[in-house]
Amino acid sequence: MARALILYFSQGGHTKGLAERLSEKLRENGITSDMMAVPWERPADLSDYRLIFIGTPLYYGREPLIWKDYISKLPDMSGKPGFLFSTYGAEGTKRPDRFMAENLKQYFWGKGLKLLSNHGITCEDTWPPLKKLGYGQGRPDRDDLDGFDKYIGNVLNEWKTGRIDRAMYDVSIRLEGSKVINFLLGIWLRIVPKPAIDVDKCIKCQACIKSCPAGNIEAGSTMRIGPRCIKCMECERICTHGAVRTNWALIDKMMHLYAGKKK
Ligand SMILES: Cc1cc2nc3c(=O)[nH]c(=O)nc-3n(C[C@H](O)[C@H](O)[C@H](O)COP(=O)(O)O)c2cc1C
Repeated sequence: MARALILYFSQGGHTKGLAERLSEKLRENGITSDMMAVPWERPADLSDYRLIFIGTPLYYGREPLIWKDYISKLPDMSGKPGFLFSTYGAEGTKRPDRFMAENLKQYFWGKGLKLLSNHGITCEDTWPPLKKLGYGQGRPDRDDLDGFDKYIGNVLNEWKTGRIDRAMYDVSIRLEGSKVINFLLGIWLRIVPKPAIDVDKCIKCQACIKSCPAGNIEAGSTMRIGPRCIKCMECERICTHGAVRTNWALIDKMMHLYAGKKK
């Protein structure tokens, strides 16, 4: 029986839900799969896997910044076909994940894995300022899920007929363009405020340390968020004591303007 590997990063559960759906579709097609949560789990050996699926949300217009380091530590993947599925909260925006797909394509290529196609799915927006405004509520809906199933169906048809190298390839941003966009997105990421730990409220339960995908929270005499923050805000979401706070005031104003313009 053929085996597939599904590597996914998911904090809000939407990408994970699609990874589970994918695993089920593969099973229906006689393919067993292993799901691994990035960055917590890592395959030691890839020789058994015939197909590799990568699932990720879009963060700040690009891939969550944990991916590059994670991929660099993977074993060689030469000769394997890879398929990407991306989730994002942008409603009505034409494929906001294209740039992220291009970055991931390049990183995986460094490990010999050819990312052959990408499918984007709108989900509930988990970024706090837009979540508050209800972006992407009710997504993925029936049509989104049908589109996802169709994508998986197409991938498997291509694979079964041995035409995988000619698989649909919808990612086409040139490297020179990527550098400029990476730079601009870097500026955007700097503008977004960093969460901070209120030492008076912190009970040192260390839940934030365990949840930080960048391994960036240090437990000393007081807990501290280090310099490698990817601003995923998971520490803020996970803290049940309200000890991790982000000052969203300015961004909230910007997002209200943005939401107002879109209406
Ligand atoms: C830190 C952060 C940044 C995000 N940035 C974007 C973005 O730039 N564009 C977008 O469309 N959605 C953005 N989103 C929304 C997520 O991509 C979307 O909700 C995704 O489905 C979440 O996946 P998950 O539930 O598997 O974590 C962002 C979410 C978070 C938490």
